[in-house]
Amino acid sequence: MTGEQVILGLKVAVLIVTILLGASLIALSQGRVALHGRINLAFFVLTLTALFVFEGIIRFWQPEVFDYIRQKPELLQSLRIHLAFSVPSALLMPLMLWSGLKHNKNFHIGLGMVFLLLWSGTFVTGIFFLPHQ
Ligand code: HEM
Repeated sequence: MTGEQVILGLKVAVLIVTILLGASLIALSQGRVALHGRINLAFFVLTLTALFVFEGIIRFWQPEVFDYIRQKPELLQSLRIHLAFSVPSALLMPLMLWSGLKHNKNFHIGLGMVFLLLWSGTFVTGIFFLPHQ
């Protein structure tokens, strides 16, 4: 696998889970709270799975992909910006799941706003800042 292929794979993964997140918010706007919860459970599991799979690829299975990134300072810079959004949003995800299940409504919605902001940053910097060809 090449560095470009790994980045393209990540982009597709981010796109798919973002569609899920959007669907969960549409369900919420229609008052279908349980559906919102179930879609977001899938969102949570898929996002973490993608994270572990890609981390596994670049750290253990094919570390040369990591070299591909390291050899390009501008790519490293874009990646740093992307990580500044994606790492905090990944850390918030378990809190979102927990507060949703606990019906800790104010906390869940408040954190949800922060999460949406961070996720938008993850999406934009992941899809448009990182080169895949
Ligand atoms: C991003 C913006 C989000 C907003 C504005 C939002 C809003 C809400 C609201 C208003 C409820 C109902 C709470 C209640 O009745 O006590 C809810 C429930 C829930 N949310 Fe979210 N949510 C968001 C994101 C997420 C995310 C990212 C997750 C999971 C990773 C999640 C998981 C859940 C779960 C599991 C429930 C409980 C569903 C049930 O009662 O069956 N939500 N959410």
